[in-house]
Amino acid sequence: MLNIFTKLSTIGLIPVIKIENPDHAIPLGKALIAGGVPVAEITFRTAAAEEVIERLTNEVPELLVGAGTVINRTLAQKAIKAGAKFIVSPGFNPETVDWCMEQKIPIIPGANTPSLIEQGLSKGLEVFKFFPAENSGGASMIQALSAPFGNVHFVPTGGIDTKNVAEYARLDSVLAIGGSWMVKPDLIQNEKWDEIARLCREARLALQGFSF
Ligand code: 3PG
Repeated sequence: MLNIFTKLSTIGLIPVIKIENPDHAIPLGKALIAGGVPVAEITFRTAAAEEVIERLTNEVPELLVGAGTVINRTLAQKAIKAGAKFIVSPGFNPETVDWCMEQKIPIIPGANTPSLIEQGLSKGLEVFKFFPAENSGGASMIQALSAPFGNVHFVPTGGIDTKNVAEYARLDSVLAIGGSWMVKPDLIQNEKWDEIARLCREARLALQGFSF
């Protein structure tokens, strides 16, 4: 479990992906790798999510594949069956969290308030998705939350792109930064693989000099 969080922290970025066509899975995975961001959060916002997770897991083994928008336990079970190595959810669903903890599956549930963080801590979690990051108070809110919750790590996501990524990257409590800016659905739909790789490289450059 810890191993996955270490990997995510080494990469520093988690592309949040909405993909409609399973045939786009492999070229997208290769573009992420070419761009130096070998991780994908495949969201359950399309009917293709399971198949995309399965194809990437089987055919692009260098890519760390997780599932996002996992809003209940059933989706978590589907994601893991398809091969996902970690689960991300926008909110804090105790049922999903409990199932993942029982199965020893890394889960990053959403928590953007002290109360939600305390709920997570009581279940043994220490990593949370801070979502929607910009609307929840941004980097300064994370800093404020880190005062009472010194051991907690965050994956801020929502409203982040190259312009503000550094505000989050400089915080010690940030494990990795999530976002869709380098993998926008229209880029995927229009098969702009080189552009996706370029945006990934640009994102990595924006993070240079920060350690996670
Ligand atoms: C998510 O679910 O993580 C967000 O939709 C990603 O937010 P972004 O599109 O603003 O990066």
